[in-house]
Amino acid sequence: MDRIRISGGNELKGTIPISGAKNAALPLMIASLLTSDTLTLENVPHLADVELLMRILGNHGVDIAVNGRRERQEDGYSRTIHFTCRTIVDTTAPYELVSKMRASFWVIGPLVAREGRARVSLPGGCAIGTRPVDLFLEGLQALGAEIEIDGGYVNVTAPQGGLVGARYVFPKVSVGATHVMMMAATLAKGTTVIENAAREPEIVDLAKCLSAMGAKISGAGTRTITIEGVTSLSGARHRVLPDRIETGTYAMAVAMAGGDVTLEGTDAALLENALDTLRMAGAHITETETGLRVVRNGNGIQAVDITTEPFPGFPTDLQAQFMALMTRSTGVSNITETIFENRFMHVQELARLGAKISLSGQKARVEGVPRLKGAPVMATDLRASVSLVIAGLAAEGETMVSRVYHLDRGFERLEEKLTRCGAVVERVSE
Ligand code: EPZ
Repeated sequence: MDRIRISGGNELKGTIPISGAKNAALPLMIASLLTSDTLTLENVPHLADVELLMRILGNHGVDIAVNGRRERQEDGYSRTIHFTCRTIVDTTAPYELVSKMRASFWVIGPLVAREGRARVSLPGGCAIGTRPVDLFLEGLQALGAEIEIDGGYVNVTAPQGGLVGARYVFPKVSVGATHVMMMAATLAKGTTVIENAAREPEIVDLAKCLSAMGAKISGAGTRTITIEGVTSLSGARHRVLPDRIETGTYAMAVAMAGGDVTLEGTDAALLENALDTLRMAGAHITETETGLRVVRNGNGIQAVDITTEPFPGFPTDLQAQFMALMTRSTGVSNITETIFENRFMHVQELARLGAKISLSGQKARVEGVPRLKGAPVMATDLRASVSLVIAGLAAEGETMVSRVYHLDRGFERLEEKLTRCGAVVERVSE
C-alpha cells in the first residue's frame, strides 16, 4: 500500500495548477444518464472517485470515451470525457459499487426520471458520520415517486406517466439531495420549486450544464431553485469548474509552510469565506488574472475561530486543513463542525505530530504550539489525509502518511504539485 513521505521545513514557491472540482465532476457525470445524446465534460480531474463513477455509469449503459491523449493545459492534466447513454441497460446500482462511494447513490435521480424506476443500494455508513438518505427519498416522494426499502436497496418507482413537479422544502440543507432533486425535476411534468436548496458552487455548475442540455432552471445558487420540466434533454459540452477545496487546501499549505505560490486556474469567488479566514490568520492573498497569489513571509499565524456551515459559510471540506494550520498559531482557535458528526478523526493523528487539541462534542480547541515534529500518521478520510500532509510540511523531520488511497480519491497529483514548489514529498510504494 502506498505511503507519502514528507520532509518538513521547506517554504513553498512557485505555481500550482488547480484541477477541475471532484464534487462538480461527479454530479455532472451522473447527469449524462438524463439524455440519449452525448454529454462532453472538459477539465475532468483524474481521480480514483471519477474512475469509480465511470465504472458505475458503464454498468447503467453509459458509453465513455476519454480523449485518446490527455490534454495538457499549462501544467495540469485535464481530460475531456464524452458520456453517451443511448439506452439505460440496467436501473440497478449494486451494493458492491455504491458502498465504495456515497455520491454514486445520486444516480437514483436521473434513473427514475428517465426510466420511471431505479433500484439503488443504500450507501451504508461512512467514516465521517452516519449520512442518511432521508432527504433524497422525501424529495423524490414529493415528485410523486413511490419508495420501498428492501434488502438494503431503495426501490423507487415514478407514477404512471413520470414524475410530477412539486414544491418541496428541505428541512436541512443537503448538497447531494439538492443535486438529485434538481436532476430528477428536469424531466418531471410541470414546475418544481426546491426551497432551502444547497447553494454550493457545484450546484450552480450542475444547473448550468443541465441548462445547456435544455433544462429550464432558475435560482441555482440561491435558496430557491425553480425547474420547469421538459420532455427530453439533449447533449451539451460543459467545462467543470475549478476545485475550491483543492484551492483552499494549497492556500493553507502555503500559510503553514510559508512562501509565495500562485494558484492557477481558480477563482476567489468560489471560497471567499475561507480566504477571508486565512487573511485573518496572516496570509496575504491577492487575485491575479488567472487565479490567486498566496504569500506568507516569516510572520506567525494568528489563531482564528471557525464554524463550518453550508455555502457560503466556511466549508466542512476545509476544516481539517484549517485545523492543521491552527496547530502552529499563536493563540487558541475554536473549531466547530456543524455538518458531519464525526469529522475530527484527524485530531488524534495531528496530536502524534505534537499538536495540542482537545475535543468536546462538535468543538475542537486548538492551542498553537511553536513546533510540530514528524511522525508516522494514518489517513482516515480524504480531507483528514491532506491535513496531515499540510502539518507534515511544517513539522521538523519526517512525516510518513499511510493509507494514502484516501488522498487519491480527491487530490490530483498532490506530490507532484507540492514538489514543484520546493516541498520534499514523495510517494513510497511497497
Ligand atoms: C457533499 O456531500 C460533498 N460530496 C462532501 O464532500 C461535502 O463534505 C458535503 O457535501 C458538505 O459540503 C460531494 O459533493 C460528492 P450533504 P453530501 O448531503 O452531499 C445530512 C469530500 O470530502 N443529510 O450536504 O453527502 C448529512 O448526514 C466530501 O469531498 C441527511 O441528514 O453532503 C450531513 O450531516 C465528503 N439526510 C448534512 O446533511 C440526507 O438525506 C449535509 O450533507 C442527506 C444528508
